Order: sequence, then structure tokens, then C-alpha cells
Amino acid sequence: MEKIIVEGGNKLNGEVNISLAKNSVLPIIVASILSPNDIIINNAPILEDVVVLSDLLTGMDCEIKNDSNGNLKINTSNIKESNMNSELIRKMRASFLIMGPMLSRFGKCKISMPGGCNIGSRPIDLHLKGFKLLGAEIEIGHGFVEAKAKKLKGNRIYLDFPSVGATENLLMASVLAEGTTIIENAAEEPEIWDLANFLNSMGAKVTGAGVGKITIEGVDSLKGISYTPIYDRVEAGTFMVAAAITNSKITINGANEEQLRPTIEKLKECGVKFENIKENVMLVDGTGTKNSVDIKTLPYPGFPTDMQAQMMTLLAVTKGSSIITETVFENRFMHVAELVRMGANIKIDGRTAIIEGVESLTGCEVKATDLRAGAAMILAGLVAQGKTEISDLYHIDRGYVDIEEKFRGLGANIYRVDK
Ligand code: EPZ
Repeated sequence: MEKIIVEGGNKLNGEVNISLAKNSVLPIIVASILSPNDIIINNAPILEDVVVLSDLLTGMDCEIKNDSNGNLKINTSNIKESNMNSELIRKMRASFLIMGPMLSRFGKCKISMPGGCNIGSRPIDLHLKGFKLLGAEIEIGHGFVEAKAKKLKGNRIYLDFPSVGATENLLMASVLAEGTTIIENAAEEPEIWDLANFLNSMGAKVTGAGVGKITIEGVDSLKGISYTPIYDRVEAGTFMVAAAITNSKITINGANEEQLRPTIEKLKECGVKFENIKENVMLVDGTGTKNSVDIKTLPYPGFPTDMQAQMMTLLAVTKGSSIITETVFENRFMHVAELVRMGANIKIDGRTAIIEGVESLTGCEVKATDLRAGAAMILAGLVAQGKTEISDLYHIDRGYVDIEEKFRGLGANIYRVDK
């Protein structure tokens, strides 16, 4: 079984190059179903989730290949709905995003219900409510959901919760629908803006993405393009916390200040200093004294749930009491037990964690319990006394490219073993 080993105590220095955003690349790959023409995604990060989605579409007779420059070339002109691999769908929840484009292109789509995961039940009721409003008939049974619609018709859709996935699925379903669609209380994450920007580059007519009310004028077809997604703000945020927890100063290439505002402001409150050296390049100075802070995760532009575990690790070794409230997912504190094994003093009360900072953590065997919790274990290992062994690495590999190489490049004593 593969493990990541971290020997604690090293300071970090130098610079790290951030990959392009996993949570942009996945919906953009799925959106390529909307056009029969060549789509090129530049510098696509070759993550486990990208491989799973590529295998799923390849199994449906799409052409997907990486060229020698790391660009992903896609052509879905021969896509067949029939050979959708349910195993792969269940393996990665984001594959449910295929429903919108398939429904739009073929007028029908039958897909296995996506499983839940460690962090929550991950329902799809908002996705299905929106498809019905666009004129689809929905049938659920035997572990499958089937949607049918001769031609989707634009409509006004209000999302009870600004769900990222539901916003993306309905956005993709609307771009070729008849008439106008308005999605209200839509998610405002930068990845939503990126998907809309990609669709508009293909000839779609989407306005308002990123500000909560999205208007889509249906068009007849979409052309092929080459596109470069935004940087991964969660990976960048993870390295910002790494600088803070090791009291180091590092440069991050691929940090968009606007998109990282919620994380930067919270880290400033903790005592971290930032300098925007030039566009998308930030100097992060984590050498000062740290303060305990309170955090409540919220949909963007609130503090991101995907940075919650990383911040908790920093606060676990920051003098004073901190409170973290997780409002987005119902079970995203699995990393608390792992941190407590390392000596952290954290108590959970429902969706709230109370953290009393301790002098130091001690290295031991821990598990990655979800993608971002896995990254948090690396952060804890960087400052723990002795050796930390992290298992269940498939969680980490789903969302981070070459994470140990990136940390090693900054001076961390970290390596992967197979034992
Ligand atoms: C996306 O998941 C991200 N994944 C998640 O990133 C991220 O944590 C999440 O958005 C929130 O920002 C991808 O983009 C691939 P949601 P998604 O729909 O779309 C409820 C990571 O670490 N909900 O916004 O599944 C749901 O239960 C991953 O990179 C409904 O109730 O998130 C949850 O409580 C983890 N009904 C909340 O909304 C629905 O129909 C947020 O879910 C849909 C969602």
C-alpha cells in the first residue's frame, strides 16, 4: 500500500507552481460533450479524477488524449450514450455532471445514482428539480436516474442552496435549450465563472456567472476551441497554510488574489502577510506570530469548505481557542480524529469544532479521510515531531498533482513509499 512519509521540522523556502483547477477542468471536460468539434484544454492537470472522467468518456467512444505538451485533446462527435460505465460513475461523483450535456445533446440520459462519500450524502435533488423545470421527465429506480426531453426549454430556476454541481449541470443543460433560462441563487465559485467563460468561448450566451443570477440565451450549436482554465485556488490555499504552519516565507506561482480573497483574509487575521508580486504570483510570509481565529465555511464568496481541514491543522498548533463551523457539508470533520491522534486538542459539537492550540504535534500513522483532509495530514506532518505516515493516498491523488514533489521542492522532508 502506498504511503506518504513526512519528517517534521523543516522550514520551507523558494517557490511552488500551482496546477490548473481540478474543479474547473472536470466540468469543462464534461461540457465538451455539447460540441462535436475538437476541444483542447491547455495544461490540464493529470489527476486521478481527470483520468476516471477520461476513461468514462473514452468508454463512450469519445476521443480523449494527452498531447506531448500536456494538453488534453477531446472530440465527442461519436459519443454513444449506451456504453456509460456505471462503475466509473459511482467512483467519482462529479461524473453526474454528464447528465446536463447528454440530456441537451441526445434528449435523454440514464445514469447510475452517484454515491455519497465520506463528507456527506451528496444529494442531487437540486439538479433534478432544475432538469424538470427545463422540461425533462425524470424517472428514478433500481439505482438509476433517467431524464428525457425532446428539446429542453428555457425556464426560471431558483436553487434552494447555491449548489456548485447543480449550477454547472443546469448551466450546461441550458446553453442549447430553446429560449432563455435564468438560474437564481446560483453558486458563485470562480469555477462557475470559468465554465461559463469556456461555454461563451464556444459561442454560448451566458451572462451573470459568478454573481448569483445567471442568464442563458439558448443557441443552436457550439464550436470547438482551445481553452486554459483558472489556477487551483484550493491547492494555492493549501500551500499558503503550509507557509503559515512552518513559519516560512514562500512564493506561489498561480495564486489569483481575487479568487483566494476569503482564504487570504482569514490567514491575514491569523497573522500571515501577503505581497502580490505580479499577476497570479504571491509572496506569502508566514514567519510572524499566529493568532487563533474563528471560521465559518460558506458558499463562495464565504470561506471555502475545501480549505477547512487545512486551516484546522494550522489552528491546532496556534496558541489560543478557535472555533470552526462547517455549514456546507454534514460530515466534514473526519480529519479531527486523525489530528487528535497526533496530539491536537479538538472537540466536535455537531457542525462545530472547538480547537485549543497545542505546543506541538507528534508524528504517527494517520489516514487521508477525504481529498482535503489528506492535504491537511501533510501539513500536520510538516510540523509534527518525528515521522508521520499517511495512508489512503487515493483521496489525495484525486485532487493534487505531484503533491510530495511540490512540497519537496520547497524543502520539506517528504517522500512516497510503497509498503
Ligand atoms: C463541489 O462539489 C466541489 N467538487 C467540492 O470540492 C466542493 O467542496 C463543493 O462544490 C462546495 O464548494 C467539484 O467541483 C468536483 P455542492 P458539489 O453541490 O458540486 C448540497 C473538493 O475537495 N446539495 O455545492 O458536490 C450538498 O448536500 C471537492 O475538491 C443539495 O442539497 O457541491 C452539500 O451539502 C469536495 N442538493 C452542499 O449542497 C443538491 O442537489 C454543497 O454541495 C446538490 C447539493
